[in-house]
Amino acid sequence: MKPYIISPSILSADFTRLGEQIAEAESAGADRLHVDVMDGHFVPNLTMGPFILEACRRVTKLPLEAHLMIEHPEHLLAAFAQAGASGLIVHVETCPDITGTLKTIKLLGCSAGVTLNPATPAGDLEPALNLADQVLVLTVHPGYSGQEFMPEMISKVAEIRCMLNQAHSLARLEVDGGISAATISRLRDAGADTFVSGSFIFHHPEGIVAGIRSLREVLAS
Ligand code: DX5
Ligand code: ZN
Repeated sequence: MKPYIISPSILSADFTRLGEQIAEAESAGADRLHVDVMDGHFVPNLTMGPFILEACRRVTKLPLEAHLMIEHPEHLLAAFAQAGASGLIVHVETCPDITGTLKTIKLLGCSAGVTLNPATPAGDLEPALNLADQVLVLTVHPGYSGQEFMPEMISKVAEIRCMLNQAHSLARLEVDGGISAATISRLRDAGADTFVSGSFIFHHPEGIVAGIRSLREVLAS
């Protein structure tokens, strides 16, 4: 199992050059790509659907994870799986039957991820812990890239790491929101092993390759 995974969020990419930017992230050693799906209801912003994910699928071999910030995600799971997603991440807030939804994701052949908003208590993950392949902790309020990391989420990451250990779960613990060279080590030390990063990578003054390299350097230190 890879100790640390870096998952660039394409929400911060230049969409007029999406294919090129994905190729650059892949050549820089990104482990997978993070696709932020927003519906204008669960979160105020509106972004991309299966159509864009399918376009990404055609230009990269990297696994694609879809972070579904949408109401009734169960209606779109099959569409994202068919479009080529390797992982589907759903919010506990939108899934009244979280175990059923995670089972459906696995039946579709995808890895099953669960996530929660900053205001949602870690305990709400309890029913999902034995099924999830991945738990994602949002370290900003969902909806936009480029927001400031919420340091109060560090203790939540540590709490969820303990819960996973107690449940003997091998799920990866991913963090998403405001991850940069300045914030990543605190999250690693709290127990995160998988890091989504959007604006830090795609808006890095020296380019995407330098952005990914600088996160790797901090993780190795
Ligand atoms: C926030 C999204 C994030 C976002 C991350 O709603 O879930 O994936 O794109 O972007 P940065 O790294 O810029 O906070
Ligand atoms: Zn995300």
